[in-house]
Amino acid sequence: MEKITSSRLRSLYLDFFKSHGHAIIESASLIPDNDPTVLFTTAGMHPLVPYLMGAKHPLGKRLADVQKCVRTVDIDEVGDDRHCTFFEMLGNWSLGDYFKKESIHFSYDFLVNVLKIDKQRLAVSVFAGDKDSPKDDESADYWTGEGLNPSQVYFLPKKNNWWGPAGLTGPCGPDTEIFIDTGKAKCSDGCSPACDCGKFIEIWNNVFMQYNKTAEGNFIPLENKNVDTGMGLERTVCILNGLKSVYETDVFKDAVSLIEAAAGKAAADERNIKAIRIIADHIRTAVFIIGDEKGVTPGNIDQGYVLRRLIRRAIRYAKQLSLSTDILVGLAELYVAQYAEAYSELVKNKDRIISEINKEAEKFERTLTGGLKEFEKVAAAADGNIDGQAAFRLYDTFGFPIEITEELANDKGITVDRIGFDAAFALHQQKSQAGAEQKFKGGLHDHSEETTKLHTATHLLQAALRRVLGEEVFQRGSNITAERLRFDFSFYRPMTDAEIAEAERLVNEAIKSAADVVLEEMTVDEAKNKGALGIFESKYGEVVKVYTIGDFSKEICGGPHAKNTAELGSFKIEKEQSSSSGVRRIRAVLLQ
Ligand code: ALA
Repeated sequence: MEKITSSRLRSLYLDFFKSHGHAIIESASLIPDNDPTVLFTTAGMHPLVPYLMGAKHPLGKRLADVQKCVRTVDIDEVGDDRHCTFFEMLGNWSLGDYFKKESIHFSYDFLVNVLKIDKQRLAVSVFAGDKDSPKDDESADYWTGEGLNPSQVYFLPKKNNWWGPAGLTGPCGPDTEIFIDTGKAKCSDGCSPACDCGKFIEIWNNVFMQYNKTAEGNFIPLENKNVDTGMGLERTVCILNGLKSVYETDVFKDAVSLIEAAAGKAAADERNIKAIRIIADHIRTAVFIIGDEKGVTPGNIDQGYVLRRLIRRAIRYAKQLSLSTDILVGLAELYVAQYAEAYSELVKNKDRIISEINKEAEKFERTLTGGLKEFEKVAAAADGNIDGQAAFRLYDTFGFPIEITEELANDKGITVDRIGFDAAFALHQQKSQAGAEQKFKGGLHDHSEETTKLHTATHLLQAALRRVLGEEVFQRGSNITAERLRFDFSFYRPMTDAEIAEAERLVNEAIKSAADVVLEEMTVDEAKNKGALGIFESKYGEVVKVYTIGDFSKEICGGPHAKNTAELGSFKIEKEQSSSSGVRRIRAVLLQ
C-alpha cells in the first residue's frame, strides 16, 4: 500500500477519473442551493441533484470532484478515531452513462492498481434485496469477476446497503460499499462489514441511483440510471498510511501538535485526547463554513447556530486544557495555509475567518467563566435533573448552547429538562418576536390584509409548482409587498408557458374550492411525519405551526394566513425568471 498524503490522494483520484473520461468539477459551496431541508452540503451528490434527476450537465455525463462536506449528526462522536464534522468527499458520477460494471471496475482498478491495496484486504457489501429493489447479484458477480473471493462479498439489507436521499426526497438507490479488512479477528460468526467491531472500515460507497423517493415515501424509477460514489478523504489517507486515527494523518497532524504544544505536558494525558481532537475538528469546520464562497457568520438560527455551537464547544474544551482563545486563531491561520492550494476561497476570506472567530470567542469568553460557575451552582442544586428555566438562563444570559449544558450535565451524570428548555425558549421567541415569525417577516413587509392573502397564495403556489414540476421544487425565498408576491424556488431550468399556465390554474382551482386554512401546532418530527414542507433541521426541537389547506398544501410556517382560500380572489403569474443558479423566481398578483 502506498503511503500518501491527503493532497496526493486528491490528485491521484482526480487524475485517474480524468483519464477515464470524467470532467473534473469544482467543489460546490457548503451551503446547499437545491435543498432547504438540510443546512449543509453533506455529500458530493448533493449539489448534483438536478442532474441526477435528469437535467443535462454542461460538462457531460462523467464527472468527478472533491467536495467539501459538513455533517454534524455525529458531533458527539468527534474525538474518537474516525469522526469529523467536516470532511472531503472524493466522488465520481455517471449521469445515465456507465452503470454497475464499469463503476465497480473503476473502483477496483483505482484501489488495487493505483493505491496498491492488496486485494485480499478488501471486503465489499452489496444489497440483499427487498420490496423496493431486487437482490444485487449483478454487483456481486462483477466484484468476483474483478478478482475478489466470494467470501469477501457480503449481502446486506437496506439498513446498510441503500443510500439517500440526501434530504427528505430525491435520488437514491442500492449501493455497494467498499471496506478495508483490518485483519482483526472476526468478532463473531456473523461478523460482517455491518458490524462496528473495527474489523472492517468503510472507505468508498458506490450508489446505483435508480429511484426518486417522493414525499409520500414511494420509490419511483428514474429515467436515467446514475452512479454516485463517495470516498472519505480523511479516512482513506488514514488507512493508506497504516494509522489508527484520522487525527494522526497529515490533515490534522500540525493542528494537533499546535494544541499540544500550547497546552504543554497536560496534553499528553490520555484524558485530554478527546478535547484536543474536538478543538482541532471544530475549528477546521468553522474555518470552512466562514470561509465558504457563501460564507456564514455565527448566529442563533440555521447554519449560523451550528457554527456558533462549534466555536463555543471548541472554546469550552480549550478552557478544559487551560488554553486561551488565541489557540483558535492560531488554528484558523494554520488551516487556511494548509488548504490554500486546494481551497483558495479560504485565503480570499482569511480576514473574515479570523475576525468572526475572534468576535465569537470574545462574546463567549465574556460570559463563559460566569456561565461555568452558574452551571456548577445549578448542577449542585439540581437533584439529578436541571430544570428548563435554569438551562434557558444559561442559554440566554451566558450564551450556553443547550447542547453544551447537556454535555456538561452528562459529564456529571445528571440530565437536563429539554422539554422545559424548549418551552422556555418558545415563550421567549414569542415575546421577542424572534424565530420563525421574525424570519418570515424578512419576506413580508407588513401584516396587512393584502400581504396576508398573498402569503397564503405562496403556499398554494409552492404546492402547485411541486405538482407541475416535481418534488425537487422547494421554497428558496419569499418577498411580499401589498401589491405582489415574489417566490424563489429550486428548479434548474425555465418553466414552459404550459407549465406556468398549469401552475396558475391549480392555484386558482384551490382558491375556488374555498378550503379552510387550518392551523395546528406540533413538534418538528410530527410535522415531518405528516409530510409538511419546511426546514426540518430544528435546533431546539420546538413546537412549530403547520398550516394545512385542504388536501392541497401542508407547510410549516410562522406567518399570518387567510382563514379560507375563497378570500384570495384570482391568482395571476406575471413573470417567471432566473434568480440565481438552480433557483427560479415567480412574480404573481391576486386580482379581486
Ligand atoms: N452519496 C454517497 C455517500 O454519501 C456516495 O455515501
